[in-house]
Amino acid sequence: MATAFLSLFVLVSFLCFLNFPLIDSFKADLYVSADNAPPIFEPTSIIIAFIDNLLDFTVEAEDPENRPHLTYSLVGAPPDPDLSLSSDGQLTWTPKQNSTLVVNVMAADECSASSTQSLTVMARDCPCQNGGSCPPFALDSPDNINCTCNGTGFTGQMCDVDVDECLNSPCDHGVCNNTVGGFHCECEQYYTGPLCDQETPCFSYRCPDNGTCADIPGAIQCTICPEESSGNSSLCVVIEISLDPCSSNPCYHNVTCDVLDDVYTCGPCPAGMTGDGVECVKDVTELQGSSWYQQPVNIALLSVGAVTVAAALIGVAVWRVKSHNATRGKVGDLPLEERRKSHPSQDLHVEEMSDQDDKVD
Ligand SMILES: *[C@@H]1O[C@H](CO)[C@@H](O)[C@H](O)[C@H]1NC(C)=O
Ligand SMILES: *[C@@H]1O[C@H](CO)[C@@H](O)[C@H](O)[C@H]1NC(C)=O
Ligand SMILES: *[C@@H]1O[C@H](CO)[C@@H](O)[C@H](O)[C@H]1NC(C)=O
Ligand SMILES: *[C@@H]1O[C@H](CO)[C@@H](O)[C@H](O)[C@H]1NC(C)=O
Ligand SMILES: *[C@@H]1O[C@H](CO)[C@@H](O)[C@H](O)[C@H]1NC(C)=O
Ligand SMILES: *[C@@H]1O[C@H](CO)[C@@H](O)[C@H](O)[C@H]1NC(C)=O
Ligand SMILES: *[C@@H]1O[C@H](CO)[C@@H](O)[C@H](O)[C@H]1NC(C)=O
Repeated sequence: MATAFLSLFVLVSFLCFLNFPLIDSFKADLYVSADNAPPIFEPTSIIIAFIDNLLDFTVEAEDPENRPHLTYSLVGAPPDPDLSLSSDGQLTWTPKQNSTLVVNVMAADECSASSTQSLTVMARDCPCQNGGSCPPFALDSPDNINCTCNGTGFTGQMCDVDVDECLNSPCDHGVCNNTVGGFHCECEQYYTGPLCDQETPCFSYRCPDNGTCADIPGAIQCTICPEESSGNSSLCVVIEISLDPCSSNPCYHNVTCDVLDDVYTCGPCPAGMTGDGVECVKDVTELQGSSWYQQPVNIALLSVGAVTVAAALIGVAVWRVKSHNATRGKVGDLPLEERRKSHPSQDLHVEEMSDQDDKVD
């Protein structure tokens, strides 16, 4: 008995799934006898969409018979022209202003048993602060979210709390000063860079006669005080030493740097690369490690090849249409509808199944 019922159920499900047009009335009988119940919507509170953000909310219903293929649709015209609902229940909308919509959604199973649900969708401003971004939707209240604060320098639910970037000690040789939305490193003597991780020229330079070194733009400044001056700075001598323009390594790795009239010049790029010596990029034809078809030249060749093949196919198609006019009347050339009439058996079944496959995908 149980087996018989199960078999009937599987048959009904299968026929419903096929959406077989010839047996619509038969299907309705089975539907009644198998007691097909309509889908049941998950209870949903008010859906909040954020202005100028894409709402992406998935409407969900369950079929009491656990049929996996429910089809969703809007009942009537969309309440806003920008709002849409895909057949798998994805509700999308990019609101432009404060508004409230009532969206009537229908869910149907393969046997056309359906139910509807009214959703309230409200558009509100994104409450995230300091450049944080809103999630694709909120439920009940616009504040019922966690903003994405990544990269803003802020944290907290609404990106309203300044991150103390100094907590993870970003300054290599300096003191960290937290600022609103960022941080600042105060470097120790002879270190520089935003993270105090670069040595200045004075770090390794030794001034003559125990002079003290100071880094100034483009040069080193040495203040040399004779021992007998004992603090009388008017006896000290200040000298400036121009920096080698190449000392900051302005050229690309392994490219020679030469000084010409107090300005650096970079030599040619390494073999297989092109550029001005400051920036060098790999030659297109010398690309290593990427597959043959990924290289731009080969992509171009493949494109030309594809266009040629397409042109050839179009040529064949045109030729076939022309010759078809001469041999009209073959069954195989009839449109699908006419073929169904002339072959009502096995062929029809196959066609219907593949139609359904397309819908499921
Ligand atoms: C939406 O309403 C809020 C509060 O009433 C208001 O502050 C905000 O400016 C409105 N936004 C738009 C885009 O009209
Ligand atoms: C926000 O994040 C907190 C902590 O991770 C979590 O407990 C809470 O449920 C989240 N709220 C929402 C609306 O996702
Ligand atoms: C934040 O963004 C960076 C890149 O911008 C990414 O590497 C990181 O994984 C993101 N973190 C989170 C929590 O999304
Ligand atoms: C940190 O930076 C702020 C603003 O840039 C400045 O006013 C303050 O004096 C700095 N504090 C320290 C300890 O450097
Ligand atoms: C540099 O100073 C050291 C001690 O501070 C001293 O011993 C040395 O003689 C000085 N050298 C010169 C060239 O003045
Ligand atoms: C510093 O040296 C100068 C030149 O020798 C001298 O005129 C001046 O009085 C000295 N100043 C002091 C405070 O010793
Ligand atoms: C620079 O040249 C050296 C030796 O000629 C070589 O070992 C190294 O890999 C080169 N570096 C780069 C970045 O090309």
